[in-house]
Amino acid sequence: MRIGILTGGGDAPGLNAAIRAVARRCFDRGDQPIGIRNGWAGLLGKGDVRELASTDVSGILHLGGTILGTSRTNPLKSEADTAQLARNVAAFGLDAIAVIGGDDTLSVAPHLHSIGVPVVGIPKTVDNDLCETDYCIGFDTAVGTVVEALDRLHTTASAHHRVLVTEVMGRDAGWVAVMGGIAGGADFILIPEVSIPVEQVCEHVQRRYALGKDFSIIVVSEGVETPDVISKEAIHEVDAFGHVRLDRRGVGDTLARIIEHQTGLETRVTVLGHLQRGGSPSAYDRTWATRLGVTAVDMLHDGIHGVMAAVRGQEIHPVPLDAVVGHSRRVDPSLYELARVFY
Ligand code: F6P
Repeated sequence: MRIGILTGGGDAPGLNAAIRAVARRCFDRGDQPIGIRNGWAGLLGKGDVRELASTDVSGILHLGGTILGTSRTNPLKSEADTAQLARNVAAFGLDAIAVIGGDDTLSVAPHLHSIGVPVVGIPKTVDNDLCETDYCIGFDTAVGTVVEALDRLHTTASAHHRVLVTEVMGRDAGWVAVMGGIAGGADFILIPEVSIPVEQVCEHVQRRYALGKDFSIIVVSEGVETPDVISKEAIHEVDAFGHVRLDRRGVGDTLARIIEHQTGLETRVTVLGHLQRGGSPSAYDRTWATRLGVTAVDMLHDGIHGVMAAVRGQEIHPVPLDAVVGHSRRVDPSLYELARVFY
């Protein structure tokens, strides 16, 4: 088979490990891997694809980013692009496609499946919020970055007796904030799933101060919605899938201003932003990316199409793409409650 590989949406540590795994399994099974450049954009217009040789995927396991490039291109936005997509799949002789992506990128795959193109999805997003899978490539590395940042912020917060607000990624779900906050010893965590008035955060910081704890670390997801922060609707800049630019909201900054104003305690903000998406993948991300990439090729050989290779416990199972796209997997309330035990 000629198996296309694409990476779409926001990059995440471990993409190259997944590309390498798909390609290596292809070589193993006598297939030809075809690299599709810049996500779905590589199948629009004249197309941008090329056959991958073994040397193309050598020495990339430990590298962040993606050798194929990525974009937030939505080929289903216009009828002309949708038709061009199908024409290019045929023109490049693609027998199947391994789609490495989050919800937006994978939302295009069911269309290809419906017109008879065999597709298998591989879950990736640092937000870790894809449905039907326990894990998405990139999450572990992103959490590691948050924890390292919190360790550093603890020392400067304690030296200056300050409140330090740390804004982390998480558009619809607070996995990065909760897991990073638990592992990094956050004194309060705010996530999109739980609406908490900033007043409560201020009271908590003051309570800590009264107990002699003269610094606090607050972790907040960029996607948090509370009456005190600018609503997502107020931001008009959107990407090709209609998502607002959350970095424009400045949730961390707003929160820090309110805390400082209401508590009188000196407060600073750190926005971790794209640091969470960059850098070398952890061993955990490399191993899942490797297992998922190999399994995706095996699924295509076994005639299992229109599915995502999903992590279930320690195993990988195919789940229909239709069940995956269009929803997001929210943080389990019990996990959030667990985090609260420590503050
Ligand atoms: O891929 C998900 C994500 O990391 C979100 O947490 C964030 O809102 C978004 O990507 C930002 O992406 P970009 O700045 O690349 O458009």
